[in-house]
Amino acid sequence: MNHGLLRHKERAASIQIDGDALRHNLGKVRAYAPSCKVMAVIKANAYGHDVLTAAARLDDADAFAVAMPAEAVALRRAGFSKPVVVLQGFANQDELSLCVEHNLQPVVHQQWQAELLYSASRFSLDVWLKIDTGMHRLGVPLDAVDAAYQTLRTSAVVHSIRCMSHFANADDPKHSLNNNQLENLIEVISNYDVERSIANSAAIVSNANSHLEWVRPGIMLYGSSPLLERSAEDLGLKPVMQFETRMAAIQQVRKGESIGYGSTWQCPQDMPVGVVAAGYGDGYPRHAPSGTPVWVNNHLCPTVGRVSMDSICVDLRGVDASHGDRVVLWGRELSVDTIASHADTISYELLCHAGNSANLG
Ligand SMILES: Cc1ncc(COP(=O)(O)O)c(C=O)c1O
Repeated sequence: MNHGLLRHKERAASIQIDGDALRHNLGKVRAYAPSCKVMAVIKANAYGHDVLTAAARLDDADAFAVAMPAEAVALRRAGFSKPVVVLQGFANQDELSLCVEHNLQPVVHQQWQAELLYSASRFSLDVWLKIDTGMHRLGVPLDAVDAAYQTLRTSAVVHSIRCMSHFANADDPKHSLNNNQLENLIEVISNYDVERSIANSAAIVSNANSHLEWVRPGIMLYGSSPLLERSAEDLGLKPVMQFETRMAAIQQVRKGESIGYGSTWQCPQDMPVGVVAAGYGDGYPRHAPSGTPVWVNNHLCPTVGRVSMDSICVDLRGVDASHGDRVVLWGRELSVDTIASHADTISYELLCHAGNSANLG
């Protein structure tokens, strides 16, 4: 197994990246969408998984996607020559120059960007036109698509145009907006000879009609389920991030005594409480409530009391544990999706936060 190790220097908690699992998950994308090209989404430092590690292990993708030009430049500087799509495109002339210099594929989502390309000369770019089909975040509105498309088509520097949109509710396959968005995209560009893309991970696993020519997986590459109702395991995905630490201490606490800041949890009986050496300083969510599971020696132990900066307390009743034991916060033994649901957030946030608060070790 090829592992990248990320860790806070001088901290007990560590993050390992399972490169084989990344490759496996990309293989799953290919299995779900066999005739499509795959744009692997590796923005935000590959959702906290270390972008250079991820890019190296995802070399079978047809393209990478990042949010900002500077993220793409970092890939080029590290020697990656694969097409890189910049999902937010360029914010100004300087960022356009970066796109040209590094042969990036910017997403054009506003008319002024198309016009800037129209008035340019002496270079050549492949671009994506982003269409707002109903999410109302980035994208050219449906009634302005043709103007933007014609501006790009007649620009001397635009070598090729592809079209994309983004689902607002793909994680809920029954949501009525999904089909509306797909139909809007197909319809508004039906007269153009262009490749199209709308499917993120959730649409890849749940809606084959949406696959079109390019799919854009993010979260499923990292082994987390994109659907509210299905587990990652069920979908054949393997966890990539292994977030671990060790047991720092075990306390015997008396019935009625409380645990941690704010004294939010009282012991219902005399009991052992484990102090786990990780906390929000390592990217574990502070708002994870008592009852969030932590893996200790094959047991899922509920947290008790508030998460601190460097420690989390767990209920060790019925568990044979000693200080120094390995503890898994999420990874192969315990899905990040489980932690996300306890902490009332999404795996994307947990992975970005923990991964990006660690440094390369
Ligand atoms: C435009 C765009 N496409 C694709 C993705 C990948 O989405 P997911 O991680 O849900 O697969 C994202 C992620 O936010 C995105 O912003």
